Amino acid sequence: MKKTKIFADANLTVGTVDPNLYGSFIEHLGRAVYEGIYEPDHPTADEDGFRTDVIDLVRELHVPIVRYPGGNFLSGYDWRDGIGEKSKRPVRLDLAWFSTETNQFGTDEFMKWCKKADVTPMMAVNMGTGSIQDAARLVEYCNHEGGTEISEMRRSNGSKEPYHVRYWCIGNEMDGPWQIGHLTADEYGKKALEAAKVMRWANGELKEESGKNWSDEPLKLIVSGSSNHEMKTFPEWDRIVLEHTYRAVDYLSMHRYYMYDEDRERPLEDFLGSADDMSEYIGTLRATIEYVRAKVRSKKKLFISFDEWNIWTVTAPRTEPLWKTAPHLLEDVYTFQDALVFAGLMNTLLNNCDVVKLGCLAQLVNVIAPIMTQKGGGTFRQTSFYPFRYIAGTARGETLRTFSDSDTFENMYGTARYINEAINHDRARRTVCASLCNYAQEAREVELELRSFGELRAKSYVELSHPDLLATNGFDHPDDVVPHEKDLPAVRDGKVTLTLPAMSWSFLIFEY
Ligand code: AHR
Repeated sequence: MKKTKIFADANLTVGTVDPNLYGSFIEHLGRAVYEGIYEPDHPTADEDGFRTDVIDLVRELHVPIVRYPGGNFLSGYDWRDGIGEKSKRPVRLDLAWFSTETNQFGTDEFMKWCKKADVTPMMAVNMGTGSIQDAARLVEYCNHEGGTEISEMRRSNGSKEPYHVRYWCIGNEMDGPWQIGHLTADEYGKKALEAAKVMRWANGELKEESGKNWSDEPLKLIVSGSSNHEMKTFPEWDRIVLEHTYRAVDYLSMHRYYMYDEDRERPLEDFLGSADDMSEYIGTLRATIEYVRAKVRSKKKLFISFDEWNIWTVTAPRTEPLWKTAPHLLEDVYTFQDALVFAGLMNTLLNNCDVVKLGCLAQLVNVIAPIMTQKGGGTFRQTSFYPFRYIAGTARGETLRTFSDSDTFENMYGTARYINEAINHDRARRTVCASLCNYAQEAREVELELRSFGELRAKSYVELSHPDLLATNGFDHPDDVVPHEKDLPAVRDGKVTLTLPAMSWSFLIFEY
């Protein structure tokens, strides 16, 4: 059996994991909101119409922050449509997803839902059909105490206290011709800068050059980067946008979905190379940020918000009629092999945690999601649910630099490792955890050498493996693909030897 050695030391770190790396995303798309998180007639619905069975699963996933309301939907959305008395809210065409939007769920419902699900809201302002004034007024609606027309609207809609929303995306995928109100990099960069200025002013933040910030809770602003690294405008889009906005914002957003054609005609290696490709993509944006930082002579560190990432495979044509409310859209059912690639993507995020400080698994419920629901019925956990739940629940603290002699395979993106790992050290909990993917078609022996922790003991060991790479979970077979507990391995002199089955994901926790 081929052997791979992986070495990590407590003193050699990549960086600290920001818990917001484990965020997610809810868009007004398909059944994410309606029949997903909000279904007033559902047997588990609470007094606000929120499905409590879904809230329980969101908690189980350890999601700390949720982005809302889009997505492509955002670029045609007027936030005023979603507030006030429900019977008076307008029903509109949603031109992003050719659906009918009833607006029965809007900003105030989202804030209430976040409170109940114990997550931080991450809002987004429309840069397609929306103006910079609309953006500033949404900040005012959410964060201003009262005494103005806009803030009094919030108070009369039931929330006397401001929401103090800190995280704000300035638009969504504005480089994409599919976007309502798509702009060039120069046009978007200028508009995003002006939006950032007025949003900060509406939040009581004075100009940077005043040297004084009057707000205790300055906004964290996220400017839209490229929609993916196959865009013709990548990475010029990112450079130009950052040159306009560097001083005014805190994060550059990036998006990426890894797809495996539905007919699976491409070699599997192309799909298994996704995690290493994601690293390359992050590397280019890391370099672009540093280039612009030097160019604009800034001392400020800007981070990446990877606010849409996932596997997205279904390419089947839409079967639901146009303009339906809550149509079944993008309801990918994830396979076991999707979960393996998914775990590798999470490893990549962890291995870049020094620059990727926020991440949003896109999306959370029903739409390319780890949680699926039936109208009036039950739920099931997709295969991808499990790597997310284990990693988000445990991989905190610092990511350690790993040194591995894994052999590699070629794929459409370049060269990728058969054994893909992330190792994290949580000093507070005195734990070390290892997330290990074996992308080889045969079992592999892995020797983990974990130095400088003193006496290490294995505390938990689970493995996701399955004889059928295309196995899935579903409402009538919810537990086909679930992790299995393994016998705890012995650790001798900081070394532990494991056998990873062909095509598997393993997750271990050690304590010291
Ligand atoms: O998450 C689905 C869609 O993918 C989002 O609406 C958009 O931002 C991206 O293209």
